[in-house]
Amino acid sequence: MKNQRKIALVLTITALTLFGVVNLNDSQRFASAQTTATPTPAEFNQADALAKLKEQIKGKEQEPAEKVFKNIQSLKGVPAGRLLAIMEMGYARSLGVNCTHCHTPEKWEAEDKNTKQIAREMSAMVGTINNSLLKNIKNLKSATPTVNCTTCHRGQIKPALNLPN
Ligand code: HEC
Ligand code: HEC
Repeated sequence: MKNQRKIALVLTITALTLFGVVNLNDSQRFASAQTTATPTPAEFNQADALAKLKEQIKGKEQEPAEKVFKNIQSLKGVPAGRLLAIMEMGYARSLGVNCTHCHTPEKWEAEDKNTKQIAREMSAMVGTINNSLLKNIKNLKSATPTVNCTTCHRGQIKPALNLPN
């Protein structure tokens, strides 16, 4: 009886150790893969990232973004080269941020930051303002009155409610 219990204990410890070792190896591998693949925001260089992406899509600039990139939901039909310009000027610059505000560098297709989905919904809101609301205002001077991200954000994450003093 005493011996049986001893054997059971040894077996349990062996199983736990084996299990623990397997887990440890996996998490270590994962951790090292993460540190090499994902630069921290401090190391992020937007010009380099854009240059690398332009190189990757070379020759396919005029193809629709959804054919060139992996996860295009709202900018369908936009030429791939133009999508990068929208990212740089339309999104990053108009909010006063860099790509890392909405993306983990190199994982451009991922949905790991909620700001990315917010941007899609902002884009839909801009569409509604331009295509439905502004069109119904009579006697405007412009033939195509338009707002975009810059109209509200003006280089800030949170649009101002007051003029600066
Ligand atoms: C304000 C948020 C925001 C910023 C800032 C931003 N992006 Fe994006 N990015 C998006 C959204 C939203 C999409 C997906 C668009 C869609 O669904 O049509 C996207 C998609 C992409 C894609 C396509 C990925 C794929 O394979 O599907 C690339 C590449 C990309 N962005 C690069 C950049 C780069 C480079 C910068 C910096 C110059 C940047 N983005 C800045 C919101 C942002
Ligand atoms: C009509 C004004 C308006 C327009 C146009 C507009 N936004 Fe916004 N945006 C806002 C407001 C208001 C907020 C909320 C700020 C807060 O959290 O109080 C916001 C928040 C955001 C945020 C979340 C920022 C954060 O980190 O919390 C993102 C991302 C964003 N907007 C992207 C865009 C993009 C991209 C466009 C153009 C496609 C755009 N916005 C156009 C008014 C606007």
